[in-house]
Amino acid sequence: MTPVVVHTRDELSDARAKLTGKVAVVMTMGALHEGHAELMRQARAEADHIVVTIFLNPLQFAAGEDLSRYPRTFDDDVRMCGAEGVDLVFAPSPDVIYPDGEPKVRVSAGSLGDVLEGSSRPGHFDGVLTVVAKMFHLVRPDRAYFGQKDAQQLLLIRRMSTDLDFGVDVIAVPTVREGDGLALSSRNIYLGSADREIATCLSTALRAGASAAEEGPAAVRRAARDVLVREPLVMVDYLVLVDPVGLEQVPEWYRGRALLAVAGRIGTTRLIDNIPLEVG
Ligand code: PAJ
Repeated sequence: MTPVVVHTRDELSDARAKLTGKVAVVMTMGALHEGHAELMRQARAEADHIVVTIFLNPLQFAAGEDLSRYPRTFDDDVRMCGAEGVDLVFAPSPDVIYPDGEPKVRVSAGSLGDVLEGSSRPGHFDGVLTVVAKMFHLVRPDRAYFGQKDAQQLLLIRRMSTDLDFGVDVIAVPTVREGDGLALSSRNIYLGSADREIATCLSTALRAGASAAEEGPAAVRRAARDVLVREPLVMVDYLVLVDPVGLEQVPEWYRGRALLAVAGRIGTTRLIDNIPLEVG
């Protein structure tokens, strides 16, 4: 089935008016893969209609990041949406979303946006939350599906919906991985075959950490670090064990739910991954 594809606000508003019952949104930047498909499948199972947004949001890329070379595979993306039973694809151009250029007023991610990904990418989460807020207003979904793969983004969007009363149910979908553990990402396409092999050490490190969870935080960090130090071609940005609410490093006495998160560069490609676990 081919979904209805719209590009302008008016077209979206007309098409949205025809959708009745519970509407779910899956927001993406295109270059869709099995991770995105999984979000659509879960949405399909739990809502009456699915809207997918495809928008490469310039506001969340800093100068020198990969906006200009980010993969664009629009026709394949629409085909995947069709195969997953998506009703409506909203694929605006930047001037539809930002008609006056970069917005003067933005949603602030606050202190949760300054740590982990935020400390490597200042302003990134303000750009994410601003576009997600705009898409919430334009699409008016009942529920929205986001990947656990981007755990900090998911947490911030959930917080935004609650703290700013958007009234959208934010649903987490577990990370979809390749057979060897590598988390699917639109950026994996940048990896040559040697780098692709090296990249698996991120998920191997997370699994090693998770298998030490019963022994406490220090053991988790040590087990994960031991894997990463054996791979000198990965430049680790951070490897942290944090509480899943405040994203603060957990102390040694901590027991309960935690998030082991990693970010690293392999050549010029920056990848992130994480694993939720129960310490103790
Ligand atoms: P993008 O990277 O295209 O991801 C879109 C959605 O797919 C996000 O919710 C992301 O967490 C999820 N996703 C990506 N890889 C996944 C995987 N391997 N398993 C499960 N889910 C996965 O994230 C963004 O776009 C943007 O920041 C966006 C929210 C669209 C705002 O511009």
